[in-house]
Amino acid sequence: MPDQKYLYIKTFGCQMNVHDSEQIEELLKKEGYQKTDDAKRADLVITNTCSIREKAEHKAYSMLGRFRHLKELNPELIIGVGGCLAQQLGRNLFKKAPYLDLVFGTHNIHLLPEMIQQIKSNKNRIVETLFHESVKSLGIRTLPDNGCVSSYVTIMQGCNNFCSYCVVPYLRGREESRESNDIIDEITFLADHGVREVTLLGQNVNSYGETLPDGSNFPALLKRISDIKGIERIRFTTSHPKDLSDDLIRCYDTINKLCKHIHLPVQSGSDYILKRMNRRYTSEDYIKKVKKLREICPNVSITSDIIVGFPGESDNDFQKTIDLMEKVRFDNAFSFKFSFREGTSVEKLNGNIEDSVKSKRLSMLQSLQEKHSMEINKNLEGSVANILVEGFSKNDQADIMGRTSTNKIVNFTGDIGTVGKIVPVKIIKACTHSLRGKMI
Ligand code: 5AD
Ligand code: SF4
Repeated sequence: MPDQKYLYIKTFGCQMNVHDSEQIEELLKKEGYQKTDDAKRADLVITNTCSIREKAEHKAYSMLGRFRHLKELNPELIIGVGGCLAQQLGRNLFKKAPYLDLVFGTHNIHLLPEMIQQIKSNKNRIVETLFHESVKSLGIRTLPDNGCVSSYVTIMQGCNNFCSYCVVPYLRGREESRESNDIIDEITFLADHGVREVTLLGQNVNSYGETLPDGSNFPALLKRISDIKGIERIRFTTSHPKDLSDDLIRCYDTINKLCKHIHLPVQSGSDYILKRMNRRYTSEDYIKKVKKLREICPNVSITSDIIVGFPGESDNDFQKTIDLMEKVRFDNAFSFKFSFREGTSVEKLNGNIEDSVKSKRLSMLQSLQEKHSMEINKNLEGSVANILVEGFSKNDQADIMGRTSTNKIVNFTGDIGTVGKIVPVKIIKACTHSLRGKMI
């Protein structure tokens, strides 16, 4: 066993990044690195960055700034930056933060042990942002912390959609699906180690299998996963509305283990803006799919992503987004002000929207969403939901928490021994982003 060393890791951005960090931890555990929450104690500091929106990028920069001080305290410390910002800036990150030792891109996680070894022996810096045809890090198996019942599983990487505002296809590369047998093996391994719920990750899971020669597709993969003993719940994210097929919608009826929730980013309710975003569906197409989903699965919860202030978005276009929200009534929506990302095709579009207008629209939209979320949650008061118990509540360690199949957090007084079990809980109080329950 190598000497005990400490790893401090900080993650920004999406679930994909969270899972990448879990894979980094797993790889480095084998090299003798134990995770610490105390950066000052670390031998290796890694930040896994996100640059999908300007705000995420700023957060990553301010974190990097704080690392300078750590290097002054401990000149032997190795500091690495991974993720989308690293992919985007590569060696240029050294100009912004000369104290960095390592910059690694989104396809190079599997090379980390080797690169760290090289830095130690040669005392030089390393940049590795090459795209590999087959993303090796996709297959790194991670086991969630002891007692953890829910786990992420990456089923594909990259994106071929090129929405005009989005850097992901440039920073995570072209879409590539993992072999279905690999995925099944990994989930069987997780189930054997106590995992009861998996969340399948990909930028657009609906097109899973398109890059594979064996004719696999997403509904077929879901069916195979549902046959794995020990797995009780299956979730997935994210879905592109244009690829949400009738076959997949039917899975909500035929696959019992499939959770009654879908994250279906709409981005805008205006057809003009959707076209400029290169989303390739209309608001009517979207609403029709929602209707089909609700016909098949009446209580399905639907969440979304929405961008305000996209170039050319008039008051009327924004109103169409509000109208769509009123029609659909999302359970929850993540909303963002448009931010320009270098290299994306939006560059060619005119009609920049002033920040004050974006802010006004964002706060209008968020108030409406809060109202809808609260109304939907209020309707659940008095009902009984099956909760998969995950552990102690974040708000109050005297309580435990879990999720409904519809992905709503429920806090309740209960026995920590029920972690990993699905228990019936009566909903007694609704909040905007969670529910209070009572075990029955
Ligand atoms: N500006 C604002 N929001 C963005 N998103 C992606 N790119 C941008 C951008 N340039 C949002 C989309 C996407 C979510 C993950 O981030 O809503 O669904
Ligand atoms: Fe970005 Fe569009 Fe791909 Fe989602 S589908 S990752 S928004 S390009």
